Amino acid sequence: MKKILMAATVLIAPFAAVLAHANEDALLGEARKVAMALPPKLIASLQKGIGESGLEGAIAICKDGAPKIAGEVAEQTGWKIKRVSLKTRNSARATPDAWEKAALESFDQRAAAGEPAAKLEMGAQVGNEYRYVKALPVQGLCLGCHGMPDQLSPEVKAALSKNYPEDQAVGYSEGQIRGAISVRKTLP
Ligand code: HEC
Repeated sequence: MKKILMAATVLIAPFAAVLAHANEDALLGEARKVAMALPPKLIASLQKGIGESGLEGAIAICKDGAPKIAGEVAEQTGWKIKRVSLKTRNSARATPDAWEKAALESFDQRAAAGEPAAKLEMGAQVGNEYRYVKALPVQGLCLGCHGMPDQLSPEVKAALSKNYPEDQAVGYSEGQIRGAISVRKTLP
């Protein structure tokens, strides 16, 4: 009987490993899809805001709009979603936890070593959750609010210091990593 059990374990173990792997691949695919849903919505909302009330007006729109959009994606998908950064504008919302911080630091190192920022991602099962982060590279559009101080208009500077007196999220150039989208789901 013991022998049969052992044989069964030996036979089943590799299948269990394959199944676990397939499950992780499925979770990675799902997390990637959820994370990718956010940037186009944010950019559309930014462009609309900029068009209607200029960069400085769009700052207030971004302040209220970003969490609203993240909330909608969360409701539609069942994943929690947020943005995190090593240099936050809104530290109350965007301060990374230890896992996110380690991922962001490794993204910076990999980008410095020449990997394209847009391709950087990390997914893993952490405790009873599946977690995934995807780097957000700085594009031309971002510079008006996250660029070098001399690229920011006086109106933008004023709106930032009014809304975010502790702002650290300026001084970026194109291609650098501004932060990441972070998604997570509790596993059944
Ligand atoms: C109109 C000005 C504006 C533009 C343009 C802009 N942002 Fe922001 N960004 C903000 C504001 C305001 C916040 C803080 C939002 C909040 O209060 O949650 C922010 C926050 C963020 C955050 C969250 C982390 C943090 O520091 O609080 C990330 C990531 C981010 N922006 C990335 C980008 C990227 C990438 C682009 C270009 C595609 C971009 N932003 C363009 C104004 C802007």
